[in-house]
Amino acid sequence: MNIILLGAPGAGKGTQAEKICEFLNIPTISTGNIIRAALKNGTEMGLKAKSYMDAGQLVPDDVVIGIIKERLAESDCQNGFILDGFPRTIPQAEALDNMGVEINKVIDIEVADENIVKRMSGRRVCEKCGASYHLEYKKPDKEGICNLCTGTLVQRKDDHPDTVLSRLKVYHEETEPLKDYYAKQGKLTIVEGQEEVADTTALVFKALED
Ligand code: AP5
Repeated sequence: MNIILLGAPGAGKGTQAEKICEFLNIPTISTGNIIRAALKNGTEMGLKAKSYMDAGQLVPDDVVIGIIKERLAESDCQNGFILDGFPRTIPQAEALDNMGVEINKVIDIEVADENIVKRMSGRRVCEKCGASYHLEYKKPDKEGICNLCTGTLVQRKDDHPDTVLSRLKVYHEETEPLKDYYAKQGKLTIVEGQEEVADTTALVFKALED
């Protein structure tokens, strides 16, 4: 199954992608993670993307479309994949259609803006492996340390409140129109993000079965 997860920054796309990945055994493709890895490795693409990311703006369409084209051509995507954070603009969605990629389900996770700001300020990520935690909702076993690789947990630069507000603005202007785009294709299911991760996961799994 080929799945797109839509939703505002911090709506829980990455968290739910992890659950679907375990359940269906298909890879998650997160453009955000790919760009952060490129940045960490100091590649040209990473350096080009840095200023956009830090300011809470979208990286130019041609850069992310190129990333996705290359990634989807890899053999592990043949039995399905989860797109987390792509597409984020109408031109990106059109590019995906033009690649001849058949999307089966689009799940939009809805969370109110005020809850997003709270979630993002509490998020901590492992600087080594990228695993995501929350100071309140998903605590690591040992404070400040990643359960998976013992890396140090840090706050993402773009999770600071001012940048989160820019990301939300960009989301409403550029990404939200994708709901209509996929509703017209009959592929959209809206899931209300719940307080508990497990409750959201139950709704997401139900949406995949329908
Ligand atoms: P990206 O990394 O994709 O960030 P994002 O979409 O803004 O999403 P996040 O990773 O911040 O949030 P999420 O929805 O995955 O939430 P999570 O599960 O972590 O993109 C970063 C940047 O890269 C962009 O701003 C842009 O510059 C660039 N970029 C990426 N893709 C691009 C594209 N296609 N085009 C152009 N530019 C692109 O959850 C958030 C927190 O809440 C966590 O701490 C989690 O533990 C907690 N949480 C999750 N679910 C719940 C719950 N149900 N209850 C309580 N807490 C919860």
